[in-house]
Amino acid sequence: MFKNSLQSTPSIVVVALALVIAMAGILALVGGLNGRETATTPAGMQGKGRTAPVVTECFESREGSTSVTRVENAVPRYGYPNLKCSKTTQAVLWYGDPFDGTVPMGEMPDIRDGTRGDFAHAFVKPREAHLTYFNMGPDGCRTCHDGRTVPVPKSKSARPLAMHQDIVADSMQLQHGRGALWCLDCHSATDRNKLIDHLGNQIGFNQPQKLCGSCHGEAYIDWRAGIHGKRIGTWATGGKKRWWVCTECHNPHTVQANRFDPLLPEPPPPLPRGMRNANHERVGQGVH
Ligand code: HEC
Ligand code: HEC
Ligand code: HEC
Ligand code: HEC
Repeated sequence: MFKNSLQSTPSIVVVALALVIAMAGILALVGGLNGRETATTPAGMQGKGRTAPVVTECFESREGSTSVTRVENAVPRYGYPNLKCSKTTQAVLWYGDPFDGTVPMGEMPDIRDGTRGDFAHAFVKPREAHLTYFNMGPDGCRTCHDGRTVPVPKSKSARPLAMHQDIVADSMQLQHGRGALWCLDCHSATDRNKLIDHLGNQIGFNQPQKLCGSCHGEAYIDWRAGIHGKRIGTWATGGKKRWWVCTECHNPHTVQANRFDPLLPEPPPPLPRGMRNANHERVGQGVH
């Protein structure tokens, strides 16, 4: 085995040399790239004949993966903040700010679970952006639920609906609460842009934990303590964290049939300029 690899070494060297020369030629044509940057071309991209992205610096610090700032911009002139790459291969491992698109979680129901004070640094991804019907018109759900186009229902009891079958297939068989709940136990009858708890408090779609927590106290307390759900960020109390809210894992309309509905994945982050795919990250290409 060792012998084999020795035998194949010369041809690899020749191919690699040819490619390096070819790439140096391309880079010289493109211009604007200096020798130091050429030398740090990701190893995983070499030998493939692609125009490789240029990485000038690597970050390995934990701090850098959570509380990233523009100071740690690896390739400032490309405008991609927080690029992270392997020290051995320079291949891109991770890029983008995990807090991109997040907003402060905001006020929380008061439960004395010892994590008070943490929420000033708690961030969530707003759910409103994910809701099909919320984005159908300028007024959100009120575009139709304005009291005239779709009248405010007179009763909160279950009835067959002429709409939203894509969300709840059969409104008479809502798969949450074993028959005890219906739409208007969670959705405000008068302001459809809001959720509502059993005390009549209106709750924004971006804070579903307030609604779910009002019935699922145990899961909610665990979630606040960090032993249910998911969060990323600085470990310490008071450190900045992104929290996943209940509806990022549970679909409120199907929990009984299926605790976890497959949710649409988030779109992938943009690739650094010049990189057409992330194949160098695949197992078996010498990149860890
Ligand atoms: C394109 C118009 C339209 C939009 C936008 C819309 N709805 Fe509806 N919605 C309807 C219609 C029509 C009904 C059915 C009324 C019926 O059958 O009596 C309905 C019924 C409902 C019901 C059942 C209770 C009721 O009022 O009859 C809920 C809950 C509901 N919608 C929530 C929402 C939410 C939440 C949004 C925004 C995320 C939304 N809808 C956006 C048209 C719409
Ligand atoms: C247990 C609480 C609960 C019940 C009961 C409930 N919903 Fe919802 N509904 C929610 C929450 C929370 C969201 C926001 C989901 C998210 O963030 O992905 C939502 C979202 C929606 C949306 C917007 C979905 C979209 O992608 O645009 C519609 C429409 C809707 N509900 C209709 C209904 C109808 C109709 C019923 C009754 C048949 C119903 N809901 C019952 C909690 C509930
Ligand atoms: C009005 C009270 C109420 C609200 C609000 C509510 N739920 Fe529920 N939920 C229930 C009930 C009742 C059940 C059925 C419990 C059972 O079968 O033992 C249930 C069941 C569930 C289950 C399945 C539990 C199991 O053991 O299979 C999940 C998951 C769940 N809810 C998540 C949520 C989420 C997420 C929200 C917020 C979007 C929410 N619930 C809001 C009352 C509520
Ligand atoms: C990161 C994903 C995630 C988030 C966020 C999340 N859950 Fe869960 N949830 C789970 C998993 C995983 C289970 C375990 C299911 C099992 O054991 O079968 C679960 C189970 C549950 C159950 C069933 C009873 C139990 O405790 O096992 C309820 C109720 C529930 N979650 C409510 C909530 C509420 C309320 C929130 C928001 C405050 C929430 N979940 C946030 C993933 C999540």
